[in-house]
Amino acid sequence: MKQIVNIDLKAAELFITAAEMEQSYKRALESLETLESRQGRGNDFLGWLDLPSNTSESLISQCEEVVERWKGVDLVVVTGIGGSYLGAKAAIDALSHSFRSLMGETSPEIVYAGQNLSEEYMAELMDLMTKKSVACLVISKSGTTTEPAVAFRIIKKFLEDKYGKAEAVNRIVAVTDAARGALKTLANLEGYTTFVIPDDVGGRFSVLTPVGLLPIALAGFNIREMLKGAAEMASICSVKDKENPAVKYAAVRNALYQKGKKIELLVNYTPKLQYVAEWWKQLYGESEGKEGKGIFPASVNFTTDLHSMGQYIQDGERTLFETVLSVTSSRREVVIEDDPKNLDGLNFLSGKRVEECNKMAELGTKIAHVDGGVPNIRIEFEKISEFNLGALFFFFEKACGISAYMIGVNPFDQPGVEDYKKNMFALLGKPGYEEAAKVLRERF
Ligand code: PA5
Repeated sequence: MKQIVNIDLKAAELFITAAEMEQSYKRALESLETLESRQGRGNDFLGWLDLPSNTSESLISQCEEVVERWKGVDLVVVTGIGGSYLGAKAAIDALSHSFRSLMGETSPEIVYAGQNLSEEYMAELMDLMTKKSVACLVISKSGTTTEPAVAFRIIKKFLEDKYGKAEAVNRIVAVTDAARGALKTLANLEGYTTFVIPDDVGGRFSVLTPVGLLPIALAGFNIREMLKGAAEMASICSVKDKENPAVKYAAVRNALYQKGKKIELLVNYTPKLQYVAEWWKQLYGESEGKEGKGIFPASVNFTTDLHSMGQYIQDGERTLFETVLSVTSSRREVVIEDDPKNLDGLNFLSGKRVEECNKMAELGTKIAHVDGGVPNIRIEFEKISEFNLGALFFFFEKACGISAYMIGVNPFDQPGVEDYKKNMFALLGKPGYEEAAKVLRERF
């Protein structure tokens, strides 16, 4: 079977014995079996395994209908947080021109709300919405998350004031649970078009549901290709041997974790992949970080961060390993020309592509960091495309399920996320939290 991602472990295996790696492969294959037999913890949240093959043509057509309906709109405000926006932003940023909005070629422009509680951000978003033709895609699985709920209340009022109630209904689409939650009730009462997030798909595993597909389609990208890539990766990642890339990745990162490498840096060499790392951090952080365990997922953008984080990575505490997302071919070509005066001394680069410099920076950094005690996993894929991103999303999800089972936790819950919310509700005076508020105020 043709591999979409190629996982190079040579510079990671230098830090692990063959016996340790063998043992880790054994555990990864057992965890794959647990996941696929649907017998493990959290097995009522495994719907994401079937999304690549089960997504219906009618769902894709419904997404396309919204794209059609909002053809004249300049600005779509995607309102959601965590798994309800990171996958879409990861794909849209990766696939878009780096200066998408300034190029003025794309319509609609996608912006985000409800992913923070910054008042200045909200006010500035409203400045923008005043100048543009606007629609809002509000996304929340639970339908009760505070950040997007607050943002949506403000945006809904804004749209109703700007366009009138009936037209606002036309300009709002909700993606939420089939039955539960305040957003579902509100959407039913107001008559919004709604899309369902399946019950058995958790937020951070939902990029291949309308949560990701609809905004990605609105940004003008091909969601059929994305699902095709995911489907091909699903079959590659179900193979029950060491060649399965999800097994490989889960096995090596856990072998490194056992050796005290507790922080994983996802590295990219193109700013287009910055939000893929943000999506990945939520996926792995929320899935594995529990019960006092889990690899801490962090990320760096190279070569940019070599000038800020490079010193620590080379020489700081030796608890890190790197996983590099390596794109083999750049879709654009820029050649460094010869300069007869050579005042900058760069003529040794004449005739080379900028990408060749990037590749040599990647190789040079890998060797330096390995020499400094940082194991290196390299995940290579050919180019940034809808197909490859769909494949990459599924690959990371599958490896995450396997890896979390190896660590011995339930990959599909997030009990720790609730604690700050309880405190925030109490401090904001939510009914029912009066006693908790008193205790909190006395503490600080
Ligand atoms: O993975 C998860 O379930 C969470 O991190 C959610 O994505 C996040 O909290 C947003 O939740 P919701 O979509 O319910 O608003």
